[in-house]
Amino acid sequence: MAFDSKTDGPAGVGPAGPRPGPRHVAIIMDGNGRWAQMRGRPRLLGHHAGAKRIREIVEACPDLGVKYLTIFAFSTENWTRTQSEVAGLMSLFRRYIQREAQDLYRRGVRVRFIGDRIKLDGKLVTLMDDLELLTSGNDRVHLTIALNYGGRDEVTRAAKRLAYEIEMGRLSHKDVDAETLARFLDTRVLPDPDLVIRTSGEARISNFLLWQSAYAEYEFIDTLWPDFSAPEFARIVRAFAARDRRFGAVRAPA
Ligand code: FPP
Repeated sequence: MAFDSKTDGPAGVGPAGPRPGPRHVAIIMDGNGRWAQMRGRPRLLGHHAGAKRIREIVEACPDLGVKYLTIFAFSTENWTRTQSEVAGLMSLFRRYIQREAQDLYRRGVRVRFIGDRIKLDGKLVTLMDDLELLTSGNDRVHLTIALNYGGRDEVTRAAKRLAYEIEMGRLSHKDVDAETLARFLDTRVLPDPDLVIRTSGEARISNFLLWQSAYAEYEFIDTLWPDFSAPEFARIVRAFAARDRRFGAVRAPA
């Protein structure tokens, strides 16, 4: 099912008036390695500390009006890290799902994964599938975890599937527009992010939600991800309401 932008458009659209907060926040959780290194500890410890921050941020969402939270856990480029860091991260993802599944379910969180599952270990993929199924009836917060995700890879896979539909005669090239392509993206059921936060002081988007963030606001903060807290998240989300989002149009006269 495609997200219906007519009835459920991005927060902030519309004539002048009180600006709603961001409905969909996406986070690039950066700085785990530096957090650990600053303490003279292995990088993996930083990832474990980072994993512990997720629950607090998810829990803060409903009160802030954030219905969708998308977090970048592992990129298509992260495979180039050392074999031991990659293996440690994969094991962390498995343990995280095993440990958190029931809690996420009970808290009304609907979990989805985006990214290419083909390269992931079968046991991890089964856990991901099971968690998606377990939480499929939930609607309090929609948590999307990007795992083996890259924006260019996602658009390429979408284009491939679209080309296949045309080859099969189920679609004509004349029907292809942005909306059609978006129906083939991993995020097809999600609204576009209104706000993208990156921790750790880096001001890059690193191949995260390239298509979907066309009109997102960005917030780059110095805090390392394992130090990121619900109060800081709340401050950023509330400050979003003060931004003037025009989606390429001019400001409406007062
Ligand atoms: C970037 O920090 C972080 C990652 C590549 C992994 C993100 C993973 C987590 C936050 C924890 C696990 C997530 C889940 C969903 C259980 P970095 O290592 O690049 O930090 P650095 O830039 O300081 O080296």
